[in-house]
Amino acid sequence: MGKTLGLAARSETDCGAAMSDTALRVRALSVEQWGNSGAVTMVGRSPALVALQKKVEKAARFHEPVLITGESGVGKELAAQALYLLSDRRGKPYIPVNCPQHGDGNLTASELFGHRRGSFTGAIADRKGAFESADRGMIFLDEVADLHLGTQAMLLRAVASGEFKPLGDTRSRIADVRVVAATNRPLNELVSTKEFRHDLYFRLRYFLLQVPPLREREDDWRLILDVLLAGLRRKYGVEKRFSSSSTKLLEHYEWPGNVRQLVSVATMGYAMADNNVIMPDDFIAQLETDESHGDGQGEILERMATGGESFWNVVYRPFMDRELNRSQVRAVVRRGLMAAHGNYQDLLDIVHLPKSDYQKFMDFLRHQKLKP
Ligand SMILES: Nc1ncnc2c1ncn2[C@@H]1O[C@H](COP(=O)(O)OP(=O)(O)OP(=O)(O)O)[C@@H](O)[C@H]1O
Ligand SMILES: [Mg+2]
Repeated sequence: MGKTLGLAARSETDCGAAMSDTALRVRALSVEQWGNSGAVTMVGRSPALVALQKKVEKAARFHEPVLITGESGVGKELAAQALYLLSDRRGKPYIPVNCPQHGDGNLTASELFGHRRGSFTGAIADRKGAFESADRGMIFLDEVADLHLGTQAMLLRAVASGEFKPLGDTRSRIADVRVVAATNRPLNELVSTKEFRHDLYFRLRYFLLQVPPLREREDDWRLILDVLLAGLRRKYGVEKRFSSSSTKLLEHYEWPGNVRQLVSVATMGYAMADNNVIMPDDFIAQLETDESHGDGQGEILERMATGGESFWNVVYRPFMDRELNRSQVRAVVRRGLMAAHGNYQDLLDIVHLPKSDYQKFMDFLRHQKLKP
C-alpha cells in the first residue's frame, strides 16, 4: 500500500511555508533559503527548468489528470510533490502508488481500489484502496507504464468518472481524486504495441509535463550541488566543498543518472573526503556507469596509458572506420578525463599524445561531438 507522505500530515502553516519556497518563487530564493526551508523544491534556473516550473504552477490550479515523463532520476516525483503543494489539495492526502512490472495484477488493482475479504487468494480481510484513502487529495501513480491491462481498464473508469469498485464488491464508490502519473518509458510507443490502452493514455495526458534531463539544464547541477552540500552541512555539522579539479570534472559530465546521480556524488564525496575539500577520488566511483565499464573502454584506455599506444591509432582510426561508435569513444574520453582530474592537457599525456597535438585533438572531439 502506498504510504501517506509526510507532506499530507503537515499543518496548513507548514504547507504554506513550503509552498512559498517551491516553484513559484524559485528564482528569488538564495541557496541558503532553499537549504533551510526543508521544502520540496525543484532547484534550477535554466530555461528548461524554469519552463517546467511554470507548467507545474499552472497545472496545479486544475483538477484534470497529469502525466509526467522523463528519464530515470530527473525529478518526476519531485515535480508531482511540487504540484501537490501548489494546488488547493495540499493538506489533503497525497498517496504514492508503485505499479510493479511483475507479479499479480490483482495486487495493484487491490492497492488502487481495495478489495473485499476472499475476493482472491490472500485477501484475508477487507482492505481500503488508495482511491478511497486519497479522497479530495492526490494519487501519484509511479511507473504507470507497468500497469496490467486489466487494471488499466479499471483505472480508466476511475480517472474518467471518479467511480471504482473494490475487488469482489458489487457496489461502486466515488472518490474525488486528482491523478498524477509518471513514467520513464515511451507511453506512445507502448500504445502502438497495444501494451498500454490508448484511451487511458489520452485521459492521463490532459497535462503533459516533460522533465528535462540534467544535461540539458545548463549549470543547474552547480546550484543543486550547493543546495545538497548545505543540507549535508546542516545534517552533519561540517562544511565541505568540491575542489576546483572536482568541479572541472563534473563540468564535462553528462549525468546519465540525472539528479539522483548528482545526489549520490554529493553524498559520497562529502562522506569520503578526509578534510573539508572533496577531491575527485572521493566520488569518482559514482560517475562510472555500465557504459564506461562494459564494452572494453577501460581496456582501450589501458592500451594507451600503460601500453604506450597512441590515441590516433587506438581511438581515432577505429572511430573513423566505424569500429568504435560515438558513445564508446565518449566513454573512453570520460574515463581518461577522470584519471586526468578533468584537465584536457593532462589527458593528452595519458593517451600518449605530444602537447603539439592539443588543438588537433580538441578539434576532433568538438567536430565529432565526442566531448563527454
Ligand atoms: N531540481 C531538483 N532540485 C533538487 N533536487 C532534485 C531536483 N530534481 C530531483 N531532485 C532529487 O533527485 C532525486 C531523484 O528525484 P525523483 O525521485 O523525483 O526522480 P524520478 O524522476 O522520480 O526518478 P525515477 O525515474 O528513478 O523514479 C531525489 O532525491 C530528488 O529530491
Ligand atoms: Mg520516481
